[in-house]
Amino acid sequence: MAANPAPRADETVSWAALRGHFEGHGRGFDLRQAFADDPRRFERFALGAPEIFADLSKNRWDEVTRRLLVELAEECQLGARRDALLAGEPINTTEGRAVLHTALRAPRGAGPFSTDVHEVLDRLLAYAEQVRDVARSGITDVVNIGIGGSDLGPQMAVPALDAYSHPGLRLHFVSNVDGHDITPVLRRLKPETTLFIVASKTFTTQETMANAQVAREWFLSQGGTDTARHFVGVTTNLAAAAQFGITDTFGFWDWVGGRYSLWSAIGLPVAIAIGAENFRAFLAGAHAMDRHFADAPLAANLPVQLGLLDVWYRNFHGFGSRSVAPYHQGLKRFPAYLQQLEMESNGKGVDAAGRALPFATSPVVWGEPGTNGQHAYFQMLHQGTDVIPVEFIAVKTPTHTHAGLHQKLLANCLAQSQALMLGKSAAEAAGEQAPTASKTLDRDVLARHRSFPGNRPSTTLMLESLTPRSLGALIALHEHRVFTSGAIWGINSFDQWGVELGKALCSQLLPRFDSGDAAGLDGSTAGLLARLRG
Ligand code: F6P
Repeated sequence: MAANPAPRADETVSWAALRGHFEGHGRGFDLRQAFADDPRRFERFALGAPEIFADLSKNRWDEVTRRLLVELAEECQLGARRDALLAGEPINTTEGRAVLHTALRAPRGAGPFSTDVHEVLDRLLAYAEQVRDVARSGITDVVNIGIGGSDLGPQMAVPALDAYSHPGLRLHFVSNVDGHDITPVLRRLKPETTLFIVASKTFTTQETMANAQVAREWFLSQGGTDTARHFVGVTTNLAAAAQFGITDTFGFWDWVGGRYSLWSAIGLPVAIAIGAENFRAFLAGAHAMDRHFADAPLAANLPVQLGLLDVWYRNFHGFGSRSVAPYHQGLKRFPAYLQQLEMESNGKGVDAAGRALPFATSPVVWGEPGTNGQHAYFQMLHQGTDVIPVEFIAVKTPTHTHAGLHQKLLANCLAQSQALMLGKSAAEAAGEQAPTASKTLDRDVLARHRSFPGNRPSTTLMLESLTPRSLGALIALHEHRVFTSGAIWGINSFDQWGVELGKALCSQLLPRFDSGDAAGLDGSTAGLLARLRG
């Protein structure tokens, strides 16, 4: 007999219980009071997972919230849904595909499609090592041409693992169809020392194909010879790559979603930068997080707890965005990476059965590395009218040796989460000297400008150091967290139909730039087209 289909969040008893709990204890929850009432709150809301320690105590929840959220997860059959994901069931129903990025980091013999996965991985890493043998390969510059999932992962991971990178190789990333992206990159290159990676799951993406053409034309026009040696393809569409003239190709499979493809051959730039052994450690870190996700009880399962907290904030508190603040410059592209991961996965308006959703889904995810963000938009986080949960990422041990810098960085990180939570009353502000404040403005008015509401929630994720292994775990943590909230919401987190309409309209508009034909266009588009052509 078929099992009952999993209910959607709003069809559960726990959802109603959470609604009641929110009205009674959530809306007015005060973090400062919670810490005053419970000296063990930090320990109670601390959670360990492979490579990552999480302080969840500065969030607006209590033990009852957590229990009800776990009950919600149970009612939504999160465990069974997770098992279906890991077993390779076709949970991406609108594309009829399995979702098996976890198989890409499973040890040899341990996951689905292991033979295929490890055959490509072995070949890929051997190739990466050949390129890294700079004296023989003659390669000094590697240019990854790809966009979305075929760009953001490697573009994020390469600087993150700079301390592990080959000192004689420069990695470049070209994604945008805007020629201002590729032009400055090409200006610095010589064809004989450059390797182009054309990375596209489909090998049909307009931006990537156009940039690959430009790169090939540049290569030939600059006297480049042996195109086969200087262009390599990474794709599921081997035939299209061959048609483009690329003979060296690494494949992957339709059960790897674009935004989950960093672990596949799409990771080639990372493998070239950090080498085979480190790349295997990167995969192992992600796999360790997969095991945690698969085995840890829901109440002690870090990705599950983060995903549930996301649901609590989005659907009960009504927070529309989450800011990510990595206090590690190497993670400067991590917020951008998370934007695709979370917003392309969970930015959906219908459930898996196609029913319109009566509740909100993906928050806006955004951020910059600390401390830079502090000097830009943190003003709004502290005193703005919206409450925006912040996720801090702190790395205990740096890989540089500049004495003093790292402690300053970490002190800033802690100070920000502290300030968000503690705030400052107008009375406290009135009692302070503020050297730069107006001497003529009314004292109370000034104090109101200088007060902070506080009670603003944050999570701090801590890594011992940023290594291939811990980065792998950090990324996998976020993948499973996104899966968790998506499963609770009952949506398909693995398709992305929302990007199609713009692509189709672009194809229709493109010839109009030559012809000027504006027939059938809305007034705004016709007007803009005329101005852009004029
Ligand atoms: O347009 C969205 C998207 O399909 C992403 O999901 C994907 O990561 C990106 O485009 C790039 O696609 P491809 O790897 O096929 O070039």
